[in-house]
Amino acid sequence: MTRRKLVVGNWKMHGSRPANAALLDAIAHARPFGCDVAVCPPFPFLSDAAVTLAGTDIRWGAQDCSAHEQGAFTGEVSAAMLAEFGCRYVIVGHSERRAMHGESDQLVADKAKAALARGVTPIVCVGETLAQRESGQTDSVVKRQLSVVIHTLAHCAGEIVVAYEPVWAIGTGLTATPEQAQSVHALLRAQLRAAAARADEMKILYGGSVKPDNAASLFGQPDIDGGLIGGASLKAADFVAICRAVS
Ligand code: 13P
Repeated sequence: MTRRKLVVGNWKMHGSRPANAALLDAIAHARPFGCDVAVCPPFPFLSDAAVTLAGTDIRWGAQDCSAHEQGAFTGEVSAAMLAEFGCRYVIVGHSERRAMHGESDQLVADKAKAALARGVTPIVCVGETLAQRESGQTDSVVKRQLSVVIHTLAHCAGEIVVAYEPVWAIGTGLTATPEQAQSVHALLRAQLRAAAARADEMKILYGGSVKPDNAASLFGQPDIDGGLIGGASLKAADFVAICRAVS
C-alpha cells in the first residue's frame, strides 16, 4: 500500500506577522511538492495563513483545540472556530502540552473527538520520555496513549493522523534512528489494524529533530508516512528541503 506522505510544520510559539508572511511565501513558491504539506501557526496567525495559502494545495492547521464545544472556557479555542478558519488539521496531545499543561490521555482523546466532530483532522501525538525508553517502557507507553484515543473514537478511529514523537528527540538534536522509529511505527500500525478497517491507509508521522539531512532516511521506512517538524519548519529552506526529501 502506498500512502501519500504528509509533512506538517509545527511552528510552536514562534513567528510574527512579517516573518510568517516571508515563510509562507517561500513555501508557496517552492511548490509543487510530491507530498501533502501543512503548517500549524499559533492561533492569532491562522487567518493570515488562510489568506496567503488560499488557492494553493498547502493546508494549515492549529496546535491545539478545546475538548469542549463552546462555553465559559477562558483562553480556549474550539474545533468549530478552527473549522471556520479553514483548518484542515489540529495537533492534539503534543508532549509539550501533556508535560506543561498536564493533559491526560483521556483529554487528548476528547480533543481528537471534538476535532473530528467539526471535520478537522486531529494529528494525535504519542511518545515516550528518555526515562521511559531507558526502562524499556516505550512500547507500553505509546500503546496506552493510542489505545485511549482508539477507544474514545470507536468507529472514527481511522480518521486520525498519528504522530510518533519521542520526547527525548524533540528540540534536542537527537533523532530516533530510522530503525528505532520504524519499530514504533510498526507497533502503532498493528494497533491501528486491530481497531480500524482503514489502518493501512492511515498516516503515521515521525517528529523529533527532523532535518533536511535525516529526512529521507526516516521517510524511507515502510511505516513512516511523513513528519511533524518543529525547529526546521521555521526556516523556509530547511522545511522545503524536508518536503522535497519525501518525494
Ligand atoms: P523539533 O523538530 O524541533 O525537534 O520538534 C518536533 C516537534 O515537537 C514537532 O511537533
